[in-house]
Amino acid sequence: MISKDSRWRSESLSRTYLEGVRGAIPLADAQIDIMLKIVEQWRPDPDTILDLGCGDGILGRALLDRFSVSRALFVDFSQPMLDSAKKNLEQYEQAQIKKLDYASPNWLEALPAGVRFDVIVSGFSIHHQPDSRKKTLYQEIYELLSEGGLFLNLEHVASSTPALEAVFDDYFIDHLYAYRQRAGETGSRELVNQRYYARPDKTENILAAVDIQCNWLREIGFADVDCYFKVFELALFGGRKQG
Ligand SMILES: C[S@@+](CC[C@H](N)C(=O)[O-])C[C@H]1O[C@@H](n2cnc3c(N)ncnc32)[C@H](O)[C@@H]1O
Repeated sequence: MISKDSRWRSESLSRTYLEGVRGAIPLADAQIDIMLKIVEQWRPDPDTILDLGCGDGILGRALLDRFSVSRALFVDFSQPMLDSAKKNLEQYEQAQIKKLDYASPNWLEALPAGVRFDVIVSGFSIHHQPDSRKKTLYQEIYELLSEGGLFLNLEHVASSTPALEAVFDDYFIDHLYAYRQRAGETGSRELVNQRYYARPDKTENILAAVDIQCNWLREIGFADVDCYFKVFELALFGGRKQG
């Protein structure tokens, strides 16, 4: 497991992601809209939510803004990320932040005994785990859901062929470049391209195909499993625990 020395714990990668990458994610608003639509349809009155690998809390915050949630837990293992989340969540009395590493099942011990969540979301986080751990984590998530609860994973997934991976990379670089131009940076697209391929966190990605991950969810017992939205390697998938 990579968590102990993960670059995600560093101030520099946290800043780079929050200031230079999150805003460049293609179709980010659509991803969140669809996430909210599914919650609205299947669990319109969520009382308790969990944002796993929350970063600055963007996904959980979208839920808090839309639904009247009485308890929201934000989990991450990176102090700089949690500091950003804390700032963004100041106005939400129902938000609680916990520094936890979900790389091993021990993280469950830090949760209140018997706690259940109506919605669990995760954004671009679980792909840092080896596949065997992804699958056991999905099982743990299933156990943590209330009856009828939903799990929605907005995730970086594997391309099915190297040719598609190359298209995704180029598409993402277009978006990074446009975002940085809008932010007033003057660097060339070539520079963005070079930095993208040399990015330090790339080695921590353990991407798995979305259809394989959906099958794991079905095996665990999730219902209505699907990939609800996908553009190349960016996928929103999940399922619900039958009530
Ligand atoms: C790419 S960021 C995404 C942040 C946010 N979810 C979003 O959608 O923008 C990945 C986040 O997952 C967190 N993370 C990665 N591995 C983790 C682990 N094993 N336990 C807890 N948090 C983890 C990182 O610290 C980082 O904040």
